[in-house]
Amino acid sequence: MDSMAEINAPLTESEDLCLSSNHPGLHDAEYVRRRKMFFYFARDLRLRKLPSPCVPYTEEESNLWSALYDRLSTLHDSHAAGIFLTGKKLLGLSRSEIPQLPTLERLLYPRTGIRLVPAEGLLHGKSYFSYWAERIMPCTLFLRHARQPEYTPEPDIIHDVIGHVPPLMDSKYVELIRLIGTIARTASPENLERLVRFYWFTVEFGLLDEGDRQKVLGAGILSSIGEMQHACDGKAEIRRFDLEEVLNTPFDPTTLQPVLFVAPSLEAIIADAHGLAARMLPV
Ligand SMILES: [Fe+2]
Repeated sequence: MDSMAEINAPLTESEDLCLSSNHPGLHDAEYVRRRKMFFYFARDLRLRKLPSPCVPYTEEESNLWSALYDRLSTLHDSHAAGIFLTGKKLLGLSRSEIPQLPTLERLLYPRTGIRLVPAEGLLHGKSYFSYWAERIMPCTLFLRHARQPEYTPEPDIIHDVIGHVPPLMDSKYVELIRLIGTIARTASPENLERLVRFYWFTVEFGLLDEGDRQKVLGAGILSSIGEMQHACDGKAEIRRFDLEEVLNTPFDPTTLQPVLFVAPSLEAIIADAHGLAARMLPV
């Protein structure tokens, strides 16, 4: 994603589902059929600005959710940032059922003004961030393929709801994503590239100092067993968060992240986001 071509993708998204050549479900006709159903269902709701109804999930999907929820929760208990653990508890996420977006929104909206919109898959650049400016989080509804539960080449409900939604119960965190979204809407291509790096090394792959420990804030880590183990077992290079360095550090979304940045606090990240707004927003 960290290329000018993809970051500055057009505002109109693909009208048809296109699975990558390495997608684990590519040759599973039933998976592709259901993935297409989720694609057109969510895309139609999103474009018509309709809320998500409750989705009936299959037994196989529910079992996959439970298995991954258990494995991730064990890692969260030791390594997740407090803001994430608090939000996860307040939202009542559990292994027993895949959360429904209306249920989550009933808890999110009164607390932080966040609304959830169904997403058909990965939304690019300004199309994705423009929702954040309005305190809206796009969330996919489908699950990854069960054959390879630790890997998904596209964000699914495990990534979006387990990774992104819990900290949205915190109003300071919501201010961070609102700021990123607001800057993105009018950013030049060059500024958008730098802003995406800031988002990547905070919202997706950020770490926070908590007492004498480094804890995980980023949704890309919190929703991935492989990234959690990689980040927390000393395999990734961990650097102190420095705004200019972050803005100039490219990333590859297709591999385990070799470099992560640890910020002194969420407040410090928000202060940097305000600094970016002062530099990048039109006067
Ligand atoms: Fe994400």
